[in-house]
Amino acid sequence: MAIDTGTPPVALPRATDRGETLTVRDDRTGKTYVIPIHDGAIRATELNKIRTAADDPGLLTYDPGFMATAAVKSAVTYIDGDAGILRYRGYPIEELAEKCGFLEVSHLLLEGELPTDQELAAWQDDITHHTFIHENIKKFIDGFRHDAHPMGVLMSTVAALSTFYPEAKRISDVAPRHKQIVRLIAKMPTIAGFAYRHAVGLPYVYPDNDLSYTGNFLNMMWKTTELKYDPDPILERALEVLFILHADHEQNCSTSTVRVVGSARSDPYSAVAAGVGALYGPLHGGANEQVLRMLEEIGSVDRIPEHIERVKSGELRLMGFGHRVYKSYDPRARIIKKVADDVFEVTGRNPLLDIALELEKIALEDDYFVSHKLYPNVDFYSGLIYQAMGFPVEMFPVLFAIGRTPGWLAQWQEGLLDPDQKIARPRQLYIGHAERHLDDV
Ligand code: ACO
Repeated sequence: MAIDTGTPPVALPRATDRGETLTVRDDRTGKTYVIPIHDGAIRATELNKIRTAADDPGLLTYDPGFMATAAVKSAVTYIDGDAGILRYRGYPIEELAEKCGFLEVSHLLLEGELPTDQELAAWQDDITHHTFIHENIKKFIDGFRHDAHPMGVLMSTVAALSTFYPEAKRISDVAPRHKQIVRLIAKMPTIAGFAYRHAVGLPYVYPDNDLSYTGNFLNMMWKTTELKYDPDPILERALEVLFILHADHEQNCSTSTVRVVGSARSDPYSAVAAGVGALYGPLHGGANEQVLRMLEEIGSVDRIPEHIERVKSGELRLMGFGHRVYKSYDPRARIIKKVADDVFEVTGRNPLLDIALELEKIALEDDYFVSHKLYPNVDFYSGLIYQAMGFPVEMFPVLFAIGRTPGWLAQWQEGLLDPDQKIARPRQLYIGHAERHLDDV
């Protein structure tokens, strides 16, 4: 069965339909070029045709951090950063977070449509029956130092999975490709749970097939002597919502990494392991961990103004604030604030919440943050919830990685099936020495 790669991009203005063009005049030669605009973009290769002489390599665009370069066409996720809109396959994130489960949303991201009841039952059953990991994996998790960061353990274990499933290399065949997608979504919580249990010296807890995806993850984290772990339904649902909010975010750093590795036709375990590596960085998924450390360092509400001054002087960044795409409130941060209320009802209020709320209030009124369009992002409040639920800070990016896995895979697969895609290979502007010789020294 061929996997549906999804619906066409939703209701975006299609400049192509209006036959729009861009006219460029090269002042070096006086020549004029008419470049077609497709889907609101020009092809960079059209600019490359602009040359001053036959041996000129052609004009390049210089765009560190891809500020204005679309490297892919995608039908998975739509973001309007100015309006604070996030949609998966056309559905607003607010509706999905309120009415759907994480596996339902995973199906939506991967297949392009929400599952029917029958499809959902089969999908859940498939995921549930692939949560176990090979016993040898326990041996190398055992080999990590007790203080190994669980993100490092996750990254290396995911990479190692490719050695357990050599058929993962058959990425062009639908059935093995689908199998690895199921395995990755199913095994991420197991590896995450094992990484945590190793760090604290507790025995590993095996998956429990009677529990939901998030309920089972909580089981593998926290089960001790009880015969059967009984997850708190409010915490189980809160985690589900958090995973939904993290499930995809179009061409962010880790997703682009997964796509770049995938463009070399590597297996999905290698691609996702690279994505975990990118997510680990403090400017990306590592930010939720940094937010908690920052709040702890601030320590009390009266020390906030001093911290804000240090941020404004450029000494520090306000972690959990700012986003490459959102230049207004991150819609996920708004939903997370509501989830926090539900969770704190069960766990008790996180004492750092007062600092976070006051910090947000002051920052949102301050000229520096207003003029730089800096608002709380998804990571500002998620860490407070995770901490209240008992997760150590090192586990925060791991939780993010579990949630992001279906998005990575949907984007990886989309790239793979896109006939426009080629191996990713950016150009450079060489600024080094001209040719020189050892004898010249
Ligand atoms: N605190 C203080 N100033 C900031 C912050 C911040 N958190 N973020 C951006 N700025 C300032 C920069 O200093 C810069 O100011 P200038 O123009 O006066 O020099 C301006 O805003 C633009 O910043 P850039 O770094 O160019 O913006 P960019 O889009 O590249 O960065 C990023 C986005 C990395 C998210 C940034 O806002 C940041 O570092 N935030 C803190 C880390 C964080 O919370 N990351 C999580 C992002 S969400 C996610 O990945 C899931």
